[in-house]
Amino acid sequence: MNNAELIKITAAMMAGSKGLLAMDESNGTCNKRFAALGIPQTEVARRDWRELIATTPGLGKYISGAILYDETIHQKRKDGTLIISAIINDDIIPGIKVDTGAKAMAGFPGEKITEGLDGLRERLAHYYKVGARFAKWRAVIAIGNGIPSIACIDANANALARYAALCQEAGIVPIVEPEVLMEGNHCLKLCFDVTEKVLKIVFNQLYQQRVMLEGMILKPNMIIPGLQYAEQATVDEVADATVQCLLQSVPAAVGGIAFLSGGQSGEMASAHLNAMHVLHGAKLPWPLTFSFARAIQQPAMSIWGGDENNKHAAQQALYHRAKCDDAARRGEYDAAMEEA
Ligand code: 13P
Repeated sequence: MNNAELIKITAAMMAGSKGLLAMDESNGTCNKRFAALGIPQTEVARRDWRELIATTPGLGKYISGAILYDETIHQKRKDGTLIISAIINDDIIPGIKVDTGAKAMAGFPGEKITEGLDGLRERLAHYYKVGARFAKWRAVIAIGNGIPSIACIDANANALARYAALCQEAGIVPIVEPEVLMEGNHCLKLCFDVTEKVLKIVFNQLYQQRVMLEGMILKPNMIIPGLQYAEQATVDEVADATVQCLLQSVPAAVGGIAFLSGGQSGEMASAHLNAMHVLHGAKLPWPLTFSFARAIQQPAMSIWGGDENNKHAAQQALYHRAKCDDAARRGEYDAAMEEA
């Protein structure tokens, strides 16, 4: 493990006001998003979509790293060149999702444990060879009646930490993603409390597994009331609660924090990130940016709809969201940008 190299990659991923683009949906998740828009659920359609993203002109101005899925990192464009080459040529660092999915946790109805540690050392060595310089592992924590259990949080935190240690051994920066889900009718305070508990347990495990905090990135959820909760929070309330929760739970040495969007609209996700910087930018000890999938991709995917004729308009929509998120990281996003 080369600490200086890991820190250098982390810094490049957090550079300027850029952020990360998650385009690492498993085939199952990608197909589900395609099905909702009437797009064929085929390898060719997935290739076309990922190629569209990777070849969006100028995306590297706002995006420092892109998280890929195993299929995409090996996939070729229509012209026979690799998709990953288009990403690297745009000065975007390629990353790879390495967990193998969240599975039902035995004995804990309604809870999930993320799998993928078996053979991970060998897979990381392979991904490094084909160009990946960072990785992602996502754990999911649901809020509901009597959940999350401590057993679920502990097991997921331990897996995240063991994954992160293996990544650093391989010269790959780990993105540690413990996602507290938005589904449910819980209030903002409960999301805060659960997220705080999860983060503290995750960082305890990272410490035990000797993960170098300066060479890792945390990918958390924002603090938001459940989707079914009657009283939604204002943008400033979400920003205040999220920053407070992170300040209480995340060591200052961590290389960076990059949010997931979790099903928020592109506009809401930009507005929340922006408010965190406007209201609290001066007191943040770590770079605070985005690592969105849906909040960047979704409007573009709807425009594309699987039709090559819509490619240009879809790329413009993708570029626009990345530009808004880059502005949000500077605290310079304005809803008026959406009309431009
Ligand atoms: P969303 O931004 O759509 O939540 O996805 C982020 C991600 O990478 C989930 O693992």
